[in-house]
Amino acid sequence: MKESNKWNANEYNKHADFVSNLAMPVIDLLDPKENEIILDLGCGEGTLAIEIEKLNTKVIAVDLSVSMIKKTKAKGIEAYVMSATQLTFENEFDAVFSNAVLHWVNDSKTAINKIHTALKGNGRFIAEFGGYGNIKYLTDAMQEVFNNHPEYGQFNNPWYFPKKTEYKKLLENNGFNVKYIELIPRPTKIDDIRNWLDIFANGIVSHLKQEQQSQFKEEVREILKPKIYSEKDGWIADYVRLRLKAYKIG
Ligand code: BEZ
Repeated sequence: MKESNKWNANEYNKHADFVSNLAMPVIDLLDPKENEIILDLGCGEGTLAIEIEKLNTKVIAVDLSVSMIKKTKAKGIEAYVMSATQLTFENEFDAVFSNAVLHWVNDSKTAINKIHTALKGNGRFIAEFGGYGNIKYLTDAMQEVFNNHPEYGQFNNPWYFPKKTEYKKLLENNGFNVKYIELIPRPTKIDDIRNWLDIFANGIVSHLKQEQQSQFKEEVREILKPKIYSEKDGWIADYVRLRLKAYKIG
């Protein structure tokens, strides 16, 4: 989540609305019940918070991005600027819900502990995010461009895409009973990869000059084109989701 404070809500809305459009299976897994109080962790512009509140629940939403929180509040959702590792809630929620966020959180153990503290006893944690193997074509292409340009320095991959066994153990070691956890390959149609890189990969090249940043994106695009683009289907990113449902013990 550390890069999300740099995101622009308008750009995100234009080119990344697939993120919330594809989230219905996670809402099904959440299975919200009337009058439940639910935390939406990493709410973005509040699209899913609205859907969950329509089911007669009360949603509190948090995100690191000030512009996203403004948009979420404008939709009538109670929302706060807050990171996953600095949640301040204690025994407040029937469920914590998180879509497409936790791969941005490097300190997963702290985030899981904060989620645990935020939940009521027996509360549930439902999440989906990038799992092991996620966007491998993309990260390999980024690594290749860094290798070809020693002047760029080292490629620092900002994402954490855990294996199912690794994340299950992390949850179990921190007070959760894991009911369901699966890695789900989900090839995902995106518009031009240039827009994806503009939204999600700026932090990787923020130390470079503007021309180098543009060169980086063009070269990544050239490497990826024969691999993930076709006339018929357009750009298809090799997403792999880690989807889970776990209960707070006690
Ligand atoms: C994802 O949802 O898998 C993802 C989105 C942006 C950057 C990296 C991964």
